[in-house]
Amino acid sequence: MDISATPAWQALQRHRQALSSFRLDAALREQPARSRSWRFEAAGIEADLSRNLATDETWKLLLALADAAALPRWRERLVAGEPINGTEGRPAWHTALRSAPADVTVARAVEQQRRRMLDFAERLRAGEVKGATGKPIETVVCIGIGGSDLGPRLVTAALGEPSGPVRLHLVSNIDPTELDVALAGAAPETTLVVAISKSFTTLETLENARAALAWLKSRAPALDARRHLAAITSQPERAQAFGTGAALVFTFAEWVGGRYSVWSPCGLPIAVAHGPAAFDELLRGAAALDRHFVEAPPARNLPLLLGLLGVWYVNFWGCRSRAVIPYAQRLRHLPAYLQQLEMESNGKRVDRDGAPLGYDTSPVVWGEAGTTAQHSVFQFLHQGTFFSPVDFVTAACFEHSAEPRERLLHANALAQADALALGEAALKPSGSAKPQYAVVPGNRPSTFITLPRLDAFSVGALLALYEHRTFVQGVLWQVNSFDQWGVEIGKQLLKQRLAG
Ligand code: F6P
Repeated sequence: MDISATPAWQALQRHRQALSSFRLDAALREQPARSRSWRFEAAGIEADLSRNLATDETWKLLLALADAAALPRWRERLVAGEPINGTEGRPAWHTALRSAPADVTVARAVEQQRRRMLDFAERLRAGEVKGATGKPIETVVCIGIGGSDLGPRLVTAALGEPSGPVRLHLVSNIDPTELDVALAGAAPETTLVVAISKSFTTLETLENARAALAWLKSRAPALDARRHLAAITSQPERAQAFGTGAALVFTFAEWVGGRYSVWSPCGLPIAVAHGPAAFDELLRGAAALDRHFVEAPPARNLPLLLGLLGVWYVNFWGCRSRAVIPYAQRLRHLPAYLQQLEMESNGKRVDRDGAPLGYDTSPVVWGEAGTTAQHSVFQFLHQGTFFSPVDFVTAACFEHSAEPRERLLHANALAQADALALGEAALKPSGSAKPQYAVVPGNRPSTFITLPRLDAFSVGALLALYEHRTFVQGVLWQVNSFDQWGVEIGKQLLKQRLAG
């Protein structure tokens, strides 16, 4: 179906023309209730959508577009584990990793795989996992890339300083630098290398794992390396062929997408750094958001509304860029995580049937932690020749924190959102006209997302919120959000180049 040929799409095109002189400063001034009525809540997360270029009519028309795309039916298929990843003939069943699905066999397998991983993490933290010489493991080096790294890296940092005795390192790039830093100062007898790879064919991960094994052998030639290499994968045979002992292979199903795998045993680094209870809380937060996505009425359904907003800006305002600015240093990896989640899911040029699309899909998603970003990209965001919608992500606990700098952090986020929306109108009148070069035009949209706290439950809910936002956009764009054929050519050309 060509969604852009539907009456719902054409109604939005007409509506966009009708908004050609829309001004956010006027809308916020003339409709004081807007700041209140355009606040939404899901699993404890608050989102203020009032600073968006939209009216009540916009929401009505966008919701009609969701119906035209049969969004409710696709959502049912997603959570039911139907094979909606058409090109690979698989489900995209990440929701089953955090809420037991009706299928008892699947539920049991997921629970068993999770329990094995969490028990192992607990034993590592208790010093009960011993190396080949009987010494407890003290350093864990996790090697993975893309979805096998970005989620664990984001959540491990988001939850603050790791607890427990284990020193955890995350390595992704094939550039030797990361692994060198991780291994510097480590002792082979007390080091465990964990290769995290769904396919167990990713060159960077396997080459780094080989280099780590070589390091082990060079430093402790007599060491039985199989006791110091674990694997987390959907391909256990490949892992064992690589040299991992069966007891140290943790598996998950092939229907777990790489960029949707933080909830699977790939989340081991999180459980090692913060404990199994934190990982369970992460899942609980995501499950709460899943329930909201399934049960909340469309007009209050936060992932649905955020996904629709994304389509509104890309396809009716011509936005090809979206910024995510987390106002929390612990969320500094969120932009990178969302780049893979959104751009690898929806950076597609054909629809589910392979027909070229006549409209844009994923924008460029980018960002940097605030307030740092205020000294690098906010000039562009305020006075550039085009606007990029901005997601501000912060935590309510900063607003009234006893720590003055956390209060300043939160106040900066609000000030920047107002400056984007209102421009000069946000300032108290100074009585003198500004030269054009100093004028900030405003009328630039943002969504203000506030977590109650920076804890595992809230972070889990946040990631599930963005997963479902991404899913909604893929459904509207008629694309398969769960394959990634575009990355294959790079692998093939590398092989071709190496073959000479
Ligand atoms: O970027 C392509 C990709 O397949 C991602 O989807 C995936 O997260 C990453 O590479 C790593 O894949 P694997 O977990 O199989 O090593």
